[in-house]
Amino acid sequence: MTGSTAISFGHYQPNRTVTNDELADRLGTSDAWIRERVGVHSRRVAAPGESVADMATAAAEAALRRSGCSAADVDLVIVATCTAFDQMPSVACRVAERLGITAPGAFDLNAACSGFSYALAAADHAIRADAAARAIVIGVDKMSDFLDWTDRSTCVIFGDAAAAAVVEHAPAGIGPVVWGSAPAKRHCITLETAGPGALPAVFRQEGQAVFRWATTALAPIALRACRRAGVDPADLGGVVTHQANVRIIQALARKIGAIGAVVATDVTESGNTSAASIPLALSKLIERREIAADAPVLLFGFGAGLTYAGQVINCP
Ligand SMILES: CC(C)(COP(=O)(O)OP(=O)(O)OC[C@H]1O[C@@H](n2cnc3c(N)ncnc32)[C@H](O)[C@@H]1OP(=O)(O)O)[C@@H](O)C(=O)NCCC(=O)NCCS
Repeated sequence: MTGSTAISFGHYQPNRTVTNDELADRLGTSDAWIRERVGVHSRRVAAPGESVADMATAAAEAALRRSGCSAADVDLVIVATCTAFDQMPSVACRVAERLGITAPGAFDLNAACSGFSYALAAADHAIRADAAARAIVIGVDKMSDFLDWTDRSTCVIFGDAAAAAVVEHAPAGIGPVVWGSAPAKRHCITLETAGPGALPAVFRQEGQAVFRWATTALAPIALRACRRAGVDPADLGGVVTHQANVRIIQALARKIGAIGAVVATDVTESGNTSAASIPLALSKLIERREIAADAPVLLFGFGAGLTYAGQVINCP
């Protein structure tokens, strides 16, 4: 066997729903503005004591349950995140310990909102190289810890979540990744401190520049991911891009000509959940059986860096 496939997805979202109306008065914004410009109706926000590792573990448990595999079957754990407060040990090691996976390869990866597609590719490559047989790949972010809750141009966009996939040896199922970055645009999205000791880091972005880049530069790259998988975009059963903004999602799907695909718009009810957004949206579509098993689905992440990564997978 020379490839890998995703056999299950699972997700976790915190209990607390924050509606646009709840933010409107305090921030000088409105439900109508947020719906029209971003597409978000509400988002989930984690409790102060709820960590990235807590959310990641819950999502991994859900994916593992649906896979029919046990912790003993897993030999690689990869966590894509950019919001873990505790840096050592890695979130992957914390999750492995809680799930009872005794000796996996385990590491975190930071490619911001592109993280899940990078991590899925890393798992696929490890399995192809015979360095692992079965992996749990998790995307998780708790953006609420790093937002300026007085800045209406950023805090209304995001939500907290985790989602995961179980990936194993198979003849095929995860297509070649197309990944890259535009480091000259690194200033467009940042989560930086003023230096050591100058906490907390706060999320900032140049919204219009990111919007322009996402709606002009990314469609040709997404098309390359389809071409590398040998899939005509018209035959895609699903398009699951990073859930940043409904207008970006729809523009991308239109530009690549995904005329028959279910286009994920989970951003409406979850906000932008960073590295979690792609597996979260796909996990829900699978749960509702809105994409047929085995249908080709384009995953396409983009975010700070500016980074991007995409691949076509067979829907579990
Ligand atoms: C952030 C974003 C929603 C802003 O929408 P926009 O239409 O570009 O809005 P602009 O930034 O041009 O701002 C237009 C006006 O709306 C105002 N505004 C910004 N946020 C607002 C809000 N929540 N409510 C009301 N007004 C708001 C601005 O202050 C500005 O007012 P001004 O004209 O008086 O200066 C949009 O640029 C976007 O989604 N960009 C992509 C960001 C992204 O995806 N980031 C994550 C990538 S991983």
